[in-house]
Amino acid sequence: MNTKRQKSMGRLRRHPNVILHTLRTLPALERAIADFHGRRETIALVPTMGALHDGHLSLVRIAKRRADRVIVSIFVNPTQFAANEDLGTYPRTFAADLEALRKLNIDLVWAPAVTTMYPSGFATQIVPGGPAKAGLEDTFRPHFFAGVATVVAKLLIQCEPDIAMFGEKDYQQLKVVTQLACDLGLRTRIVGAPTVREKDGLALSSRNAYLSPGEREAAPALYRVLRECAGAIAAGKPSAGALRQGREAIVDAGFVLDYLEARNAETLAPLESIKGEPIRLLVAARIGTTRLIDNVAV
Ligand code: PAF
Repeated sequence: MNTKRQKSMGRLRRHPNVILHTLRTLPALERAIADFHGRRETIALVPTMGALHDGHLSLVRIAKRRADRVIVSIFVNPTQFAANEDLGTYPRTFAADLEALRKLNIDLVWAPAVTTMYPSGFATQIVPGGPAKAGLEDTFRPHFFAGVATVVAKLLIQCEPDIAMFGEKDYQQLKVVTQLACDLGLRTRIVGAPTVREKDGLALSSRNAYLSPGEREAAPALYRVLRECAGAIAAGKPSAGALRQGREAIVDAGFVLDYLEARNAETLAPLESIKGEPIRLLVAARIGTTRLIDNVAV
């Protein structure tokens, strides 16, 4: 990023009477980006799959404070879903999404068709390593990070943002895209933002819409257990014992547990018990047919 662009980061430039433009073709996007560059405006990208909730909107608000222009991409990316997953039923609320973005004075939504992102003959895949092979989400969704890495790389190349916002809720994904941007030498800085939670602690997620009332009532147990484990480990309890108890508590709350792990917060590698090593606790568990993930720092 050049110095002039860097200087204007962090400054909120007001655009009165902003009109929300929904762009669906690459030439239209290219023209808009060229316009922003021509005016030396900085760009923040917030990649989403739509079904926007307050977690997404908080990313948008942070993006607005950090760049002159905010592009929100809405694209339900088929390549990150396995055949047995919820691509067909993934919530699609496009009109409500646009309304929410309009209220935030966002000026550009990038909403390409599947055939624009993956035209016939498309044959390239980015298969990430490092944090993408940490043995967490990748164990249970082996297809997932190649789909995410490929689409995120495309979005970053298409939108040429100075920064791109990702929620810490998808902590492994945040690490994967950070590594990807670094390894591919992309000019975009990846910015992580804190998880937004319901009052009872449940992390906001588009998939919370799938929960029945009973499941919704049980769901905050994930965050409660994460915090209890984090507190115990911070107080000096060996992580193996804290995690064993945590796993039992999650199952007792009605979940089928995929994993509850303590990892190095930077690399996601298993802990080496080095004093002062930054620790992140990560969990994935299923309740009914809904799979939830969450994480906290220790
Ligand atoms: O976190 C998401 O919503 C998606 O994985 C992302 C980053 C938009 C890529 O499709």
